[in-house]
Amino acid sequence: MRIEKAAEIGFCTGVRRAIDMIEKAAGEMGPLQTLGPIVHNQQVVDKLASCGVTVADSLDQLKRDILCISSHGVGPQVIDEAESRGIKIIDTTCPFVRRAQGAAKKLANAGFSVVVFGDENHREVQGVLGYAGEKGLATVKVPPFSKLSPRVGILSQTTQSFPAFHSFVSSFIQKHLERIAELRVVNTICDATRKHQEAALELAKRSDVMLVVGSRGSANTKRLAELCSVVVDTHHIETAREIDPSWFTGKDGHIGITAGASTPDEVIDEVVSRLDGMK
Ligand code: F3S
Repeated sequence: MRIEKAAEIGFCTGVRRAIDMIEKAAGEMGPLQTLGPIVHNQQVVDKLASCGVTVADSLDQLKRDILCISSHGVGPQVIDEAESRGIKIIDTTCPFVRRAQGAAKKLANAGFSVVVFGDENHREVQGVLGYAGEKGLATVKVPPFSKLSPRVGILSQTTQSFPAFHSFVSSFIQKHLERIAELRVVNTICDATRKHQEAALELAKRSDVMLVVGSRGSANTKRLAELCSVVVDTHHIETAREIDPSWFTGKDGHIGITAGASTPDEVIDEVVSRLDGMK
């Protein structure tokens, strides 16, 4: 059995930056709370809890007048509400998410409908939509013309795959271009997502089995598993304990590993050790 990790794997710059900022703040200021989990990974949330960083589901649940905003960001309404209550904000919003928020705001202010290609229930998407106000909608299916203004801007959730975004934009053009006056497309897929996906696919093509490590609630991890499963037998696992040795029966040995942007190194290392133990 040969085990190979993807060239780009695990924590992205945005997640690493958010965790560093919060750990530093907790060290200086004492116990803190994040609005929702800092990233979609239970091991990271548990580790931060041991440093005194816990999760609040709303501003009403804050125990102190300090709020940490996660790398997924929030809409401006949340910031305004926190500021009006005199709450200090530690904002770890990823710069790539901030770029998508800025694009949504600019397009909405210029009178465009803002279509965000992504999961309407994901926190990042909800935050970006907050910047588009009444003009925003999130979807993975081309919306009907009745929901759009004559001028339309399309953005993507930062963790979508480029082929999926490309296909959405193409379908949109095919369906609506004749009737809209202006279309702007802003590619807001983040660089880390692109690099993770490219490295995962490159490895998947050379592997007999792919393991994708990370939370089932993590959008970018799910996307990696979807992409890899198109080219090779792929298993999405959260931890090493979920590995089933029967997955490798009859396979002649090259196992590829990739992991989502919120998966810590320790969890990836445990997967490698468990596989090493099966050799
Ligand atoms: Fe940011 Fe992309 Fe990571 S949006 S948090 S660098 S997956």
